[in-house]
Amino acid sequence: MREFWIKDPSYANEGRKKLEWAEGQMKVLMKIRERFQKDKPLKNQKISACLHITKETGVLLKTLMEGGAQVSLCPSNPLSTQDDVAAALVEEGIKVYGFRGLTAKEYYECIGYALLHKPTITMDDGADLVSTLHKLAYGIRGVDTEYVKGILGNFDERLINGIIGGTEETTTGVIRLKALERKGMLKYPVIAVNDAKSKNLFDNPIGTGQSAIDGILRATNVLFAGKDVVIVGFGQVGSGIAERARGLGAKVTIVEVDPIKALKAVMYGFNVDTLSRAAEYGDIFITATGNINVIRGEHFEKMKDGAILANAGHMDVEISKRDLEILAKEKVEVSKLMTLFRMRDGRKIYLLGDGRLVNLVCAEGHPSEVMDLSFSLQALCVEFIAKNKDKLEKKVLIVPEDIDREVARLKLDTMNITIEELTEEQKRYLNEWQVGT
Ligand code: NAD
Ligand code: ADE
Repeated sequence: MREFWIKDPSYANEGRKKLEWAEGQMKVLMKIRERFQKDKPLKNQKISACLHITKETGVLLKTLMEGGAQVSLCPSNPLSTQDDVAAALVEEGIKVYGFRGLTAKEYYECIGYALLHKPTITMDDGADLVSTLHKLAYGIRGVDTEYVKGILGNFDERLINGIIGGTEETTTGVIRLKALERKGMLKYPVIAVNDAKSKNLFDNPIGTGQSAIDGILRATNVLFAGKDVVIVGFGQVGSGIAERARGLGAKVTIVEVDPIKALKAVMYGFNVDTLSRAAEYGDIFITATGNINVIRGEHFEKMKDGAILANAGHMDVEISKRDLEILAKEKVEVSKLMTLFRMRDGRKIYLLGDGRLVNLVCAEGHPSEVMDLSFSLQALCVEFIAKNKDKLEKKVLIVPEDIDREVARLKLDTMNITIEELTEEQKRYLNEWQVGT
C-alpha cells in the first residue's frame, strides 16, 4: 500500500512552520491535545478523515494521533489542499493522500487509499467518504465507486461493519446524511458537528464571512466599496458574507427562496431582490445556498460586462459552469484563481476558483481561531464515539450539549473573558411557574 501520495515531500519545512503558527492560534484544541496525550482516549482507533488539507486540519489530526489514533487523510475538495501542510503531516506519521489540483479520478482514488487503512471512525466535510462507502456497501455503481474500487479492490462488508461512528463538518454533508438516514440506509452513527451551536454560529458566518471575501480579494484585488454585491442564500454562511461585504462599503443585495430568511435580510437592512433582476445590476455574485444551478444561463445573459462570480457553498454546482461554457465564445485562464468567459456579445464574466469554495481555493480557508471551535468539537466528538461505541444509534446524531457548551466555555477562557453567573435566587426564579406580575 502507498504510504502517502502528495505533491512533494520536500515542502515539509514550510508546512511545519504553518502548523506551528496554527497551533499558537488554536488554544482550545491544544488544551484538548494535552489531555489526549495523557489519557490516550483514542487508543486502538483508526481514523480516516476526508477533510480540507489545511494547517488547521493538520492541528486536529496531530491531536487525534496524540490521543492514540492511527490517522489517514484524503481531501474533501480537489483544489483545497495546502501541499506544504500535506508534506509536513506525512513527516508526522499521518498517511496523507492528496494534492492541489486532483482530477476526479485521483480525488476518488485518494478516498480509496484512506479507506485501505480500515477505519474504525470516519470524519467527513461534505460526506464524500461516507457516501462512497455506502454506495460500495449497497452495490450502487458509478464512476466514483469504480475509481475507489480501482484502489480498494472488491468491496468487503467487514470494512463498513468495522466502523463504530463518524463525524460530519458541513451543512451539505449533514443534508446528504439525513437523506441516507431517511431511506433507512445509514450503516453507522454519524455526529452532525455542523449543527452544534459553537460550530454554526461562528464557523459558518464569521469564518466564511471573512475567508470568502479574503478569497475574492486574493483572486481579484477588487474594491468592494461602492460595488453592488449580490449574495444568493441568506443562511448561516450567506448572512455572514453579507455583513462583511457591507462592512467593506458594498451595496449588498440578498436573493432568497425562504420568506423568513428574506424577511430577516430586509430587517437587517439589506436590499432583497430576485436573481433575475439582480443579475442586471450586480458587480460581484456570491452563492451560499448548498443548492444546484442557482446562477445559470438566463442570469449570465443579463449580467454586466466584468461581472465576477464566486461560490462559497460546499459543491461546485451552485454556479452552472456548463451554461457558462455553452454561452461563452472563449475561455481564458487569467490566473490560477480566475477564469474569464468571453460571451458572444463581447461581455466578460469572471469565475473565481473554478466555482469551488472560494475561501479554500483562492485563500486559506477560515482563520485558525475560528477552526479552533469547529475542530475542538470534532476532537471531542471522536472521543465521545470511542467511549460510547456500543450505545449509539445508527442515525445522524446531534453533538451532546455538554460538549457544545464546554467548547464555548474553553474558548472564552483562552480569550481571558469571564462571564456572569446566575445567582441561586435567579436559578430558582427561572424554574418557578407561580410567580406572576
Ligand atoms: P443554510 O441552510 O443555513 O443556508 C442556505 C440558504 O440558502 C437557505 O436560507 C436557503 O433558503 C437558501 N437557498 C437555497 N436554495 C436557494 C436558491 N435557489 N436561491 C436562493 N436561496 C436559496 O446553509 P449554510 O450553513 O449557510 O451553508 C450553505 C453552504 O455553504 C452549504 O453548502 C455548506 O456546506 C457550505 N459551507 C461552506 C463553508 C466554507 O468554508 N465555504 C463553511 C460552512 C458551510
Ligand atoms: N473549512 C473552512 N475553513 C477551513 C480550514 N481553514 N481548514 C479546514 N477546513 C475548513
